Amino acid sequence: MTGRSRANKAPRHFLDLDRIEAGELRNILGHAVAFKSGRDRTKPLAGKILAMIFEKPSTRTRLSFEVAMKQLGGDVVTLTAADSQISRGETTADTARVLSRYVDAIMIRTDSPATLEELAQNAGVPVINGLTDSSHPCQVMADVMTLEERKGPARGKMVAWSGDGNNVLVSWIHAAARFGFELRAACPARLAPPGKVLDWARTQGARITITTEPAEAVAGADCVVTDTWVSMGTKNKDERRAMLKPFRVDEALMAHAKRDAIFMHCLPAKRDEEVSAAVIDGPQSAVWDEAENRMHVQKGILAWCLG
Ligand code: CP
Ligand code: NVA
Repeated sequence: MTGRSRANKAPRHFLDLDRIEAGELRNILGHAVAFKSGRDRTKPLAGKILAMIFEKPSTRTRLSFEVAMKQLGGDVVTLTAADSQISRGETTADTARVLSRYVDAIMIRTDSPATLEELAQNAGVPVINGLTDSSHPCQVMADVMTLEERKGPARGKMVAWSGDGNNVLVSWIHAAARFGFELRAACPARLAPPGKVLDWARTQGARITITTEPAEAVAGADCVVTDTWVSMGTKNKDERRAMLKPFRVDEALMAHAKRDAIFMHCLPAKRDEEVSAAVIDGPQSAVWDEAENRMHVQKGILAWCLG
C-alpha cells in the first residue's frame, strides 16, 4: 500500500507521551515485554519499511530501530540531513509527502519540535519522535520498562532526577503522569524544565517536585536518573558545567536513595561529569539493560504505529 492509498486513514503517530493515552502506552510496554521474553515470536512488520531521518548524531536510536525493524520482518532506509536535499532547503512538508510514497513509517531525530510536527502533519504514514530538543519519548518508554523489570510496577514508585532540565526530563515528566509514579527533579534554577510541561502534568494529577537540592530530590528514591550536562547542539558549555557540578550523581548522592535503588542514564555518558564512574559502572547501574530495552520497546512502538 502506498502513502497515497493510505491517505484517507489518519496515521498513528508516536510524537510525545502526553499525546498518547495511558492505556495505549501500557499496551506498547506489554508488547515490548512479550517480544523481549520470546512470548511473541511473530513478525508483524514483514514487508514494512521504516525511513529514519537523522539531523543529529545517534548510536542507540539508529541501531535499535534498525535491529527492531529487521527482527520483526521489516527493513529500514536511513537519510541524514547532510547528504539529502534537506540540507539544501527542501521543506519538511515536501520531504514528508515524498517519503510517504516510499515507506510505511518515518522516524526522525531533529532539533526542532516544529519540524517533527510539520513532518507529522504532512506525512501519510506514522511518524515517530526519535528525539528533539524538547523531548525523547522512545527513551523514556525504555526507561519505564527497565524500572518495572527491576522494581515492579511503576505506579507508586519514586524516581529522582539530578541534572539538566532537558528533553529527557520532559519525557520523564510526561511519563510520571501517564504511569503514576512520583518524580522529584533537582535542577539549577536557570535550567529548570518548562513550566507548561509541569502545569500539564499537574493537571493530570501527577506528583512532581522541582527543587534545586539534589539530596532532597534523591531522598528515598527507587531510581535515580541523570543525563549529559551538554545536550547535542547546546552552547555555553563551560557555564552549564559550572552550574551543574553540584548535581553530579556520585556515591554520596546515591546514599540518599533507597539501599536497593537503581541508577539510569540514557547514554552517551560523560564519566565524572554528570555521573561518577563508581555509580555508572557500579552494582546499582541499570544502564546496559536500559540501552537494550530501547530495541524491545521500539518493537512495541513500531507494532502499535503500524497496527
Ligand atoms: N540515548 C540515545 O538516544 O542515544 P543515541 O543518541 O546514541 O541514539
Ligand atoms: N539530552 C541528550 C540526550 C541524548 C540521547 C541530548 O539531547 O543530546
